[in-house]
Amino acid sequence: MQRHLITSAIPYINGIKHLGNLVGSQLPADLYARFQRARGNEVLFLCATDEHGTPAELAAAKAGQPVAEYCAEMHAVQSELARGFRLSFDHFGRSSSPQNHALTQHFAGRLADAGLIREVSERQVYSNADGRFLPDRYIEGTCPNCGYDRARGDQCENCTKQLDPTDLIDARSAISGSTDLEVRETKHLYLRQSELKDDLDAWIDSKADWPILTTSIAKKWLHDGDGLQDRGITRDLDWGIPVRRGDAEWPGMEGKVFYVWFDAPIEYIACAGEWADAQGGADWERWWRTDKGADDVRYTQFMGKDNVPFHTLSFPATLLGSGEPWKMVDHLKSFNYLNYDGGQFSTSQGRGVFMNQALNILPADYWRWWLLSNCPETSDSEFTWELFQQGVNKDLADVLGNFVSRVTKFCRSKFGEVVPDGGVFGPLEQDLIAELDKRLAAYTTHMENMEVRKSAQELRAIWVAGNEYLQAAAPWATIKEDEAQAAMQIRLGLNLIGLYAALSAPFLPDTADTLAATMGVEVSKWPESIAKALNALAPGHTFQVPDNLFAKIDDAARATWEAQFSGAA
Ligand code: MF3
Ligand code: ZN
Repeated sequence: MQRHLITSAIPYINGIKHLGNLVGSQLPADLYARFQRARGNEVLFLCATDEHGTPAELAAAKAGQPVAEYCAEMHAVQSELARGFRLSFDHFGRSSSPQNHALTQHFAGRLADAGLIREVSERQVYSNADGRFLPDRYIEGTCPNCGYDRARGDQCENCTKQLDPTDLIDARSAISGSTDLEVRETKHLYLRQSELKDDLDAWIDSKADWPILTTSIAKKWLHDGDGLQDRGITRDLDWGIPVRRGDAEWPGMEGKVFYVWFDAPIEYIACAGEWADAQGGADWERWWRTDKGADDVRYTQFMGKDNVPFHTLSFPATLLGSGEPWKMVDHLKSFNYLNYDGGQFSTSQGRGVFMNQALNILPADYWRWWLLSNCPETSDSEFTWELFQQGVNKDLADVLGNFVSRVTKFCRSKFGEVVPDGGVFGPLEQDLIAELDKRLAAYTTHMENMEVRKSAQELRAIWVAGNEYLQAAAPWATIKEDEAQAAMQIRLGLNLIGLYAALSAPFLPDTADTLAATMGVEVSKWPESIAKALNALAPGHTFQVPDNLFAKIDDAARATWEAQFSGAA
């Protein structure tokens, strides 16, 4: 039995995620976790909300709520949506958890002890009215280059010139509008990543099986320009993890917090601690410490491509720099972007479909199937309502749904809701078994390799093979001449449904449950051989005809949704 630690990039707390976010990490991670569990392997699948940083503060302010309260509410909302999409996390944690506070402070302490942290004095804008330092994007003013009067402290949106907050004319606070600003000296901690360059280089070289997309991004950041820059890991914000050196105060760092990108990946580890505590004290270190049993764990991370540098360089720098035996990622699966109907998903414009809206319209399995079978794996991909309609109607309704309906209804009308006998399989059945054995091997390999689209194609081909068999065997014709032969064909068809439940479960967990329940089987293990799977239901076994599995999407519904989600209103 293998042990799989699986994490998905942790979604920002500020708002409900759209389908592009979902398919870029959480959904494929769930596919893989479900597959590995079905294979009989031990899995710990973790995700959490990413709760710190200015976006969280801004979103809370917009909602008119204290930030802690806002985060608690949004965590509950995201957690419920994850359940709705059947994301099978063993734990859905929070980067603001006490466990992450302690662990983040622990890492900072270790890094400091190793001489990997230096203090840097910076000049930053302080707002007297707001009683706080203002990060760049909290400062507005007139652009010295083009005169645009709402330029931000980091950049002018109008002429794109990169700015320093001190460049702005008539600078004001974006929070209160106050112009009572001054420049103050403030000290920050920098992680000396450059010291770890050779270690990181060697570590990346040891990952021969990583996709080119991943290694090339990592190597580019390591070697281009000035190479790996030291990076600031603290901020002057109220909300976040207070800067401490392990258990101790950090003189000069009072009132400061760690930078969100420092503490967020540490939550992958802390989340295991949250999981363990929720289990009443399970052993989480056997998943994360190579000196405590994690050396035989295979760790896979899922994320969007923009997250790759943080996972190949920054977080590994934290882990390596600590000098402690932490489990490092073995395989990293990254995704491109999903676009929406000729443009991008836009949270601010409400353009595209968001997780809550999707579940209000259609069951999770419709979305899971379409998103995974069209995921932006080797390049960006696009959601359109027409493609979605096609995917659902053709793959789910016409292929899988239709097969199940024809077999079960035909059986009920001729033999009752019980598996008929009819003797041994003939040549047509043996051919089907040979084809499905090949396809099962290919499907299993693609799933092992996290080739999501190829997996979906193979699964679909397995459904299609069932339909083609049914068409060729034509039990509705056979039965007129040879009832036993027709019975055998239908017995095979019913067993195929049981097989489909097992093989489809990672993509379509609810459908698989329905199929298993109506066929009176458990969605159990991954099938070892097709011949065995197709003899699982013995003659005399009873079943029920399931309700129609999938409803087709008609053109009217498609047009309504197209208009509804265009972001035009
Ligand atoms: N919240 C980030 C995003 O959505 C991902 C954080 S992943 C972690 O892009 F590494 F920080 F955990
Ligand atoms: Zn400008």
